[in-house]
Order: sequence, then structure tokens, then C-alpha cells
Amino acid sequence: MKIGKLNIRSQVLLAPMAGYTDLPFRLLCKKMGAGIVYTEFVSSEGLIRGSEKTETYLISVDDERPVGVQIFGHNPIAMAEAAKYVEDKFSPDLIDINFGCSVRKVVKKNAGAALLKDLDLLGEIAEKTVKAVSIPVTAKIRAGWTHNKIVAVDVAKILEDKGIKAIAVHPRTASDGFGNTPNLKIIADVKNTVKIPVIGNGDIKNTEDAIKMMDETNCDAVMIGRGAIGNPWIFKNIIDHFAGKETKLPCISDKIEMCIEHINLEISHRGEDFANRIMKKAYGPYFKGFPQAAKLRQKLVLANSVAESLDILYKLKETYSKNFELPI
Ligand SMILES: Cc1cc2nc3c(=O)[nH]c(=O)nc-3n(C[C@H](O)[C@H](O)[C@H](O)COP(=O)(O)O)c2cc1C
Repeated sequence: MKIGKLNIRSQVLLAPMAGYTDLPFRLLCKKMGAGIVYTEFVSSEGLIRGSEKTETYLISVDDERPVGVQIFGHNPIAMAEAAKYVEDKFSPDLIDINFGCSVRKVVKKNAGAALLKDLDLLGEIAEKTVKAVSIPVTAKIRAGWTHNKIVAVDVAKILEDKGIKAIAVHPRTASDGFGNTPNLKIIADVKNTVKIPVIGNGDIKNTEDAIKMMDETNCDAVMIGRGAIGNPWIFKNIIDHFAGKETKLPCISDKIEMCIEHINLEISHRGEDFANRIMKKAYGPYFKGFPQAAKLRQKLVLANSVAESLDILYKLKETYSKNFELPI
């Protein structure tokens, strides 16, 4: 797949996820074959104000390229300015505009999915952002604000017309939040309407889900969010399947090793305290399906330091590497 002039090597992309897709997690997903990784969304207003915290989300390294920085906001001039600032200071491979976030603190400022109610403003944001930078600008949308007004196809036409180079479609409405089932027909309708690449997103938890989305929508790539948390292998599994290779699910010691690597990357990225806090969310997903998973998770979450968590995991690794293992 090509996004503008950018060659994307795999059709399986990591979705932006606030609180999860930091540099360490992105590196693990990239290692497992993610075709593009995205930062967590950052506010255009925060960037323009020069907020240091906002900028920590944008720290990037060459090993994770191609990387997209996702921005959100409601003011076309601020969005354009923020995109240019990001391009000049952080040199990502693409800028992505968030037209899909439905959380209150974003939509109450008329940003994210709220823009699906004001297509003139959405078009103006896309147009000004595209004009402000030389790298490709992509967009991520939902189906619409409510089920009474599904606008994905209209939005896709506007975005293509304004120079957006690819569209990711999460085919739920803002009113759905994460409830209801994603309506794959909406992705198919968008794909039938525009010429730019269409990326399907929503509820892909395994290879079968990815095949279903590709088959039913003819989308150019799939984007995975929650299914990658604690399971970066999902990218490799899907890619291997499409390449006709045998899919090898991770076994217990693979999971322990990946979790240890994740912790160590978090420590080098932002220090032990941060690593201790952020990893508490990841232990559950990493060890789902383990023997005595709940007990293990609790031990890790209650650990007072990251050194203590590492100690638990090293000991666990020894136990499992001595045993015959099955994939979990
Ligand atoms: C914790 C969390 C944070 C998210 N943050 C973002 C974000 O920053 N930008 C965005 O466009 N979508 C965000 N999303 C939505 C995901 O990118 C994705 O569209 C959604 O989770 C559906 O895909 P999935 O079923 O593969 O998770 C977030 C989702 C979750 C669960």
C-alpha cells in the first residue's frame, strides 16, 4: 500500500491509543510487523502553547518508522500550525487527523468525532492541515455522530477532495462508544467511493477477524487497537497468514519475555516510576489465559517497584522455560 509517496510494507497497522501507544509499545508492535504505528493523539492547542507534556508523546526513533503523529482540535488555523510544528520539530512520516474520538473532554471542545456534525469545518481543517505540511496527511473517522446520520461516505469524499491521503474507518458512531458491533458495510461503502487507501478498524482480535474485515470490505489495510495490547504478535500472525506462512501463536515464555522487554523499554524511555505505573495496565492483557492469571496479575500490579515486577517475571520465566510449553 502507498500513502502519498510513502511505501507501507505491511497491511496491518497499529491504531493510536491514548495511554498505550507510547514509544516502547510502538517499538514492540513494529518489531512484530506493524506497517504504521501512530502516537497517542495530541492536542493542537497544547502543541501551539508549547506544552512540554504534550511533546513527550511525540518522542520518536528511526526504528519505528513509518510513524504517524495524530493531532486533534477544532480550529483549522491551530490545526495547520500544529501540523507544521510537528513536521518541523519531530519529522514524522505522516500526520493523522482525529475525527473519531468520542470521549467527553474532546467532543465538548468540538473536536474529534464532534466534527462529524459539522462537515464544513471538518473539510476546512483537512484542507488547511494538508496545505501546511509537505508530508502526507491522513484521517481517522467514525461512521457518524449517531445512527440517524451516518456520514462516513460523505466525509470520505470531502477528505479525499481536500487532499487527505488515506482514511481509517472505525465503523461505529460516536454514540456507540465501544458498544454495538462495528458495521463493516460502512467500510465497504467508503472503499467503493474513494480512490485513496481505506483502512478498516474495529474489534480485530485475531487473524480470523482481520480476514473477515478484508473479505467483507475490500479495505487496503486493517488497523488494530485493543487487540494488540499485551499481544503484539497479532501483527505477525496476520501478516504470516496473508503470506501463506504457518501462524505461530506465542507460548508462555514468549509472553514473559515480551513483557520483560516492554518493562525495560519503558524504564529507558521515562524512568522506573513511570514504567511501574504504565505497566500495571498491561499485565492483565499479557497474561490472559495463563495458569493462575488473576493471581499473577495481582502480584504484578501490587508490586511496589518495577524491579519487584521484573523479579517476579524472571522467576516465572525460569519455571516455564524448564517445562514443555503449548501456545496460549
Ligand atoms: C484506551 C484507548 C485509547 C484510544 N485513543 C485513541 C486516540 O488517541 N486516537 C484515536 O484516533 N483513537 C483512539 N482510540 C480508538 C482506537 O484507535 C480504535 O479506533 C478503537 O479502539 C477500535 O479499534 P479496536 O477494536 O481495534 O480497539 C482509543 C481506544 C482505546 C481503547
